[in-house]
Amino acid sequence: MDLKHWKLEIDAQNLAWLWFDRAGTATNTFSTEVLEELGSIADHLAAMPPKGLAILSAKDNGFAAGADIDEFTTISSAEQAMAFTTLGNVVFDKVAALPFPTLAMIHGFCMGGGTELALACRYRIADDGPKTRMALPEVMIGIVPGWGGAKRMPPLIGAANALDLMLTGRGVDGRRAKKLGLVDDATPRRHFANAVRLFLASPPPPHRPRFAAAVTDWPLVRSLVASMSRKKVAEKARQDHYPAPYAIIDLWKDFGGDVRNIPLEHPASMASLFAHPTTRNLIRLFKLQDRMKGLGKGDIEPIRHLHVIGAGAMGGDIAAWAAFKGITVTLQDLGPERISPAVQRAHALYRKRLKQPHLVQAAFDRLIPDVKGDGVAKADLVIEAIVENAEIKRKLFAGIEPRMKAGAILATNTSSIPLQELSGVLERPERLVGLHFFNPVAQMMLVEIVEGPQTSPEVMQAGQAFARQIDKLPLPCKSAPGFLVNRVLSPYLMEAMLMLDEGVPGETIDAAARDFGMPMGPIELADMVGLDICWAVGQELAKPGTPIPKKLQANIEAKNLGKKTGKGFYTWVKGKPQKASGSGSVDLKPIADRLVLPALNEAVACLREKIVTDADLCDAGVIFGTGFAPHRGGPISAIEERGKESWLKTMAELRAKHGDRFVADSGWDSL
Ligand code: NAI
Repeated sequence: MDLKHWKLEIDAQNLAWLWFDRAGTATNTFSTEVLEELGSIADHLAAMPPKGLAILSAKDNGFAAGADIDEFTTISSAEQAMAFTTLGNVVFDKVAALPFPTLAMIHGFCMGGGTELALACRYRIADDGPKTRMALPEVMIGIVPGWGGAKRMPPLIGAANALDLMLTGRGVDGRRAKKLGLVDDATPRRHFANAVRLFLASPPPPHRPRFAAAVTDWPLVRSLVASMSRKKVAEKARQDHYPAPYAIIDLWKDFGGDVRNIPLEHPASMASLFAHPTTRNLIRLFKLQDRMKGLGKGDIEPIRHLHVIGAGAMGGDIAAWAAFKGITVTLQDLGPERISPAVQRAHALYRKRLKQPHLVQAAFDRLIPDVKGDGVAKADLVIEAIVENAEIKRKLFAGIEPRMKAGAILATNTSSIPLQELSGVLERPERLVGLHFFNPVAQMMLVEIVEGPQTSPEVMQAGQAFARQIDKLPLPCKSAPGFLVNRVLSPYLMEAMLMLDEGVPGETIDAAARDFGMPMGPIELADMVGLDICWAVGQELAKPGTPIPKKLQANIEAKNLGKKTGKGFYTWVKGKPQKASGSGSVDLKPIADRLVLPALNEAVACLREKIVTDADLCDAGVIFGTGFAPHRGGPISAIEERGKESWLKTMAELRAKHGDRFVADSGWDSL
């Protein structure tokens, strides 16, 4: 056979070895051409037939990353969407129908179509290492697992487990996949060839779920499981904002998991989902994420030794995260008692994420407490995360710079001090960069890479590469107060607090923000972030003439700082804010508009000032840094969605009522 993306070998035992090796790229994805080729291989094998078939990936990074997103995003009509969906189904059905044992050997990432191909095989074996990730993440880009995933996964592992994976999009490693029954075995990749021979020599009966799991897929139980799942989904996402999770439940419950059975006009059909703005925005965001990943590429030496100064909330967690990602880290603070809470948090993180004791121990060994600061002289990168005080930071910098290695980089995690205020004491100010992480470090994807007026391009590039090295998304920003994210977020939080002072209940304000699509309301968010931090950032960034929020001030004076003290705007019990239920019959839209507009206005100003290079990065930064309504595609996209004129009209009305903090930035003219 003449093959471009697959390699087929038949060995002396008449076993077929099919290697997925998409031409011209480092990552396997499914394009039309790839699928068509697989279809003809399946036809060929069915006619042969071999004794058994193993499907493996020839790429180091994983089995397959799913559908080719570039092809996928050029789909412009319902017919095209349906044709691509049908092709995947026809081909994977051919694999499923092969009249001999078939086995997928999975290492690295196995996403979407990758998992769906594996599910079309009779058996699956996964690498048991920490890098294996199997998932059906389609929901995250607003679609459903449409190449047989929703059909084949529920009978294999039970509907409740399958829905959990499909509705969250989360990945499982090899061991977890084995526990779920998603794979038949987990073994190191180096044993794959042996495992194939052993398995195909005497194939066991295909996996069946345990009774308790199987029951959830029984026809009579389905309605109950579906309605419970809908309820759970509804707590997180509204159907008009996020139709995909609802479509997944319908697809499983009413259409046998096969998208070809759904009438085109049904809201769960591929055509309807493709036509929905949320899907467009989520796909754009997915591609933007790729673009940001690309910003960290380049021929740059990886950081081998990181030294972090300040083991508080941020420094401690940055150090822990970097050690988790394989870097040797020394962590300095004023005394051992200040480092030990960070070390304890790190241990909890490693246990949760790595599970296997030897991996936990290895990560733990990479995180080295260093009160004396010996690591400064050895580190490729030093990150400062001490108190937010320019004078103290300058003093620290003057002391450590002479001890740093010649090519080493100095970084600050400051959230508000412009780099130019810190670089004056440095011999080599071009080697100072801002690496602004977000709290909590382990969960927030974004790092703002802040460019001071003297930061050299190489150091900016190295900062971006470091963010990628530790699996974060770099966002290059100019050094101006608040950079991008805090600058956009702060006036939104302040406006919420001013409404609170006017007597609007916090519950209503939060409901309005969620109604707009924010994952959490601003009053709850302020309590989470800490009211002292909101106060400090607000002071730094407030526009002249903006009133000081009185309830915020009173809380600060009473030392009610939010979640961390158990009381802020809300009382917090067991990590949850105690809210009065329901916002009654209040019209939430004007409240949401008033909250969101100051943020939109600031995003526009950031674009005008070129804090970030373009609107795409502005949208992505604000979403990944604050959670800003992802289905709306970010602030600039939200402006376009409703129309600039409409927003500006509301802005003018708000200005008439509340004053000049609602003056439209001049950047609106050039949007
Ligand atoms: P923190 O108060 O929790 O921790 C600061 C740590 O630095 C303390 O453990 C303190 O003992 C130590 N320290 C102070 N002076 C030191 C010195 N001369 N040498 C060694 N250690 C010293 O503060 P947090 O919240 O971790 O903030 C640290 C930095 O990160 C600040 O610049 C802040 O603006 C920034 N930041 C904070 C965020 C947050 O949400 N807390 C988010 C992003 C940035």
